[in-house]
Amino acid sequence: MAAPVNDDLTIDESTLILGIETSCDETAAALVMGGYDVVSSVVSTQVDLHAEFGGVVPEIASRAHLDVLNPVIARAIVESGVEDSRIDAIACTVGPGLIGALLVGVSAAKSLALAWDVPFIGVNHMEAHLYAASLEDPTLEFPLVVLLVSGGHTMLVEMQDHGRYRLLGQTIDDAAGEAFDKVARFLDLGYPGGPAIDEAALLGDPDAIKFPRALMDNSYNFSFSGLKTSVMNYVRKHPDVSSADVAASFQAAVVDVLVAKSRAAAKATGATSIVLGGGVAANSLLREEILEGCAQDGIQGFLPSRAMCTDNAAMIAAAGWHRLRSDGPTPLSVGATPNLKLPFID
Ligand code: KG4
Ligand code: ZN
Repeated sequence: MAAPVNDDLTIDESTLILGIETSCDETAAALVMGGYDVVSSVVSTQVDLHAEFGGVVPEIASRAHLDVLNPVIARAIVESGVEDSRIDAIACTVGPGLIGALLVGVSAAKSLALAWDVPFIGVNHMEAHLYAASLEDPTLEFPLVVLLVSGGHTMLVEMQDHGRYRLLGQTIDDAAGEAFDKVARFLDLGYPGGPAIDEAALLGDPDAIKFPRALMDNSYNFSFSGLKTSVMNYVRKHPDVSSADVAASFQAAVVDVLVAKSRAAAKATGATSIVLGGGVAANSLLREEILEGCAQDGIQGFLPSRAMCTDNAAMIAAAGWHRLRSDGPTPLSVGATPNLKLPFID
């Protein structure tokens, strides 16, 4: 069904949106048609630039976005095979994220919207992560439980409908990815820590050390800071312990909690599926255990590809399409907001 937005534009299956993402350390642009059909998607990662510092350096991130954003947008358009005059609207992440990094994308998106005389759509990065799975499986049915686990966020969200989200729980301290990164750095396994621990854990025994499973109460909140401290204390006391055993035991402790709470949330909300999102969703044990748990509970476990779990602009364009339908264009006076929140319902 088509929704009228203004005299010139009707939002439907043929509406072509250019998405732009620069909130953290990926510079990305994509063209998505009708909210679901990814026509092109280009991601330029800065991971190598930040590796020597063991984390994202905001100033380096902004400069790198400035260097590559124009070529990334140009490549997304060329790879799509469509003329830029065919683009109907520009969607761009306006938050949450690093202010300098966000500003690069937002300035470019607004300039293009003005130059091409098309609507600008400011997109919440977290809302876009919620939409990422639907790009790979448009048949996913609400209500969904989404476990969003990245370097900056750990949250369980009930997606009841487009634009209707309930926050079930979130981390009260470190994000899951942050815990992976900090433990990997402590074990000298390299950066980013998640993939390094995932790999090291393959050679270790997950039952070697019984690390604590925090907040295994009735809440859907998470805490990973105590676990990180336990790992450090254990290694200091047992300097000869195998890093692989520590990595495997730590990973098992994180994944046990993530999976148990996601399953409980799906049961409580009557969700048809549990969907993963965010960089930690690439974790091999998490993927295996979510699928196993969902099979036991008789619901669907949906694991988007790694490219769709991590930051990309296709999800920005998709969320932008839904926002354009529901709210219309975003005024150009709306700027980058580093701590932008999702409008959750109670
Ligand atoms: O979503 P993302 O690419 O960026 C943001 O944080 O926004 O997530 C990055 C996080 C990092 O903390 C990284 O260590 C973690 O995702 N990660 C993983 C794995 N791959 C990436 N964590 C656990 N296992 C993995 N295989
Ligand atoms: Zn993200």
